[in-house]
Amino acid sequence: MFKWIKHIAVTLLALVSLYGVGRLAVVSYGSYLFVERQPYLQMQTQNSILIKWQSDVKEIGCVVYGDDKKVCEDTPTSYHHITLKDLKPSTRYNYKVLSASMNIDNANRHFETLYANSLNEQFIWVIGDSGKLCKAQDNVYQSMLHVKGDKELNLWLLLGDNAYRSGTQEQFNASLFEPYKEIVKTLIPWAINGNHDARRWAMYDIFEFPQNGESGGLASGSEEYYAIESGNVHIVMLDSEQADTSKDSKMAQWLEKDLAQVKKPWIIAAFHHPPYSDGSHKSDNARDSWGRMTRVRENIIPILEKHGVDLVLSGHSHGYERSKLMRKHYGTSDTFNPQEHLISNADHNYCKSPQKSAFDGAIYNVIGSSSKADRASYKHPALPFSSRTLGSLLLHVSPTKLHVDFIDDKDQIVDTYTIDKSCTDTIRREK
Ligand SMILES: [Fe+2]
Repeated sequence: MFKWIKHIAVTLLALVSLYGVGRLAVVSYGSYLFVERQPYLQMQTQNSILIKWQSDVKEIGCVVYGDDKKVCEDTPTSYHHITLKDLKPSTRYNYKVLSASMNIDNANRHFETLYANSLNEQFIWVIGDSGKLCKAQDNVYQSMLHVKGDKELNLWLLLGDNAYRSGTQEQFNASLFEPYKEIVKTLIPWAINGNHDARRWAMYDIFEFPQNGESGGLASGSEEYYAIESGNVHIVMLDSEQADTSKDSKMAQWLEKDLAQVKKPWIIAAFHHPPYSDGSHKSDNARDSWGRMTRVRENIIPILEKHGVDLVLSGHSHGYERSKLMRKHYGTSDTFNPQEHLISNADHNYCKSPQKSAFDGAIYNVIGSSSKADRASYKHPALPFSSRTLGSLLLHVSPTKLHVDFIDDKDQIVDTYTIDKSCTDTIRREK
């Protein structure tokens, strides 16, 4: 009898070990598999930009930019990595990438350096859970292009789950670099980590993020969370998937210090897991997504609100959900009290003081439907503008107004709101 039990235990252990080794092999393969990749832009600062690409053969690559300046690599490589330095802030540069082995698409390649000073207006495209290669993904993209018209995009934010199903090197090519190949030539994909991206280790190899404060704000010391500052806006990109989101975590401490020194009129925060959602994920369920939604709501939102955040963007739930101007709601939806938590009961136009002030109200917007939209109840009381609608956000930032359009997949603007820091009819209560 004992012998049989021992046999079963040894067999089970062998199977578990085999599964573990197999799994590690699959994860490593997807993470490190070499793929050819057309050039893309990274590490945008006021004075520099990084251009990366990957070629099948080892060779010396070059970039020609501006008035025919040329930078070449020193040694042959397949992983190309050229930083253009000593650039002027707030300036547009054309560039071309030279490769002996690859057929590089150099049509319409240009970039801008970050804006040192206030910018009259800026357009920011925001997509969430965009990484499913499908017709819906393309419809959302094309719809934004149609509605945007000839306005130039300045920044592009990706709210995580950038490459389904597991964030492999191949999936990043198929779901991001190929479908968005035109926009990748001119804009930096400022991305954050989603739970699907985190299934492999490719994301932080593919992307390089400013951990030393290169793109503005305080050095975070981690690529997982960082700031971007350009024109009128300070953006904090946070990792709610792999980073510690507890109250005294390194990310929370950095966030506190970074936001304390912001002088820009607008603060936007982005992370994958929504603090409030009744979509395909439920923020009321402390076990949903291993409690990440609860932790960001309880630990991260108070820091953002204390420092006057204006707009909080998340994905993860595959739908559209949006609050009114609100604050200090850190519990489950049954504790939401409009009298206590709403700064304004208006539907589309919100007034805020031009002075940065604590707990002044923010809009919470879930946009996790840039490639798929899931059936759900969409009844969170703090999110009255919610539906199963595919789409993306187009932000128009000016010195005193932050205007947001939710554009669906059929060239329609289906939700719109403005935060105004110049209006006088502010509805305020004692804080
Ligand atoms: Fe997700």
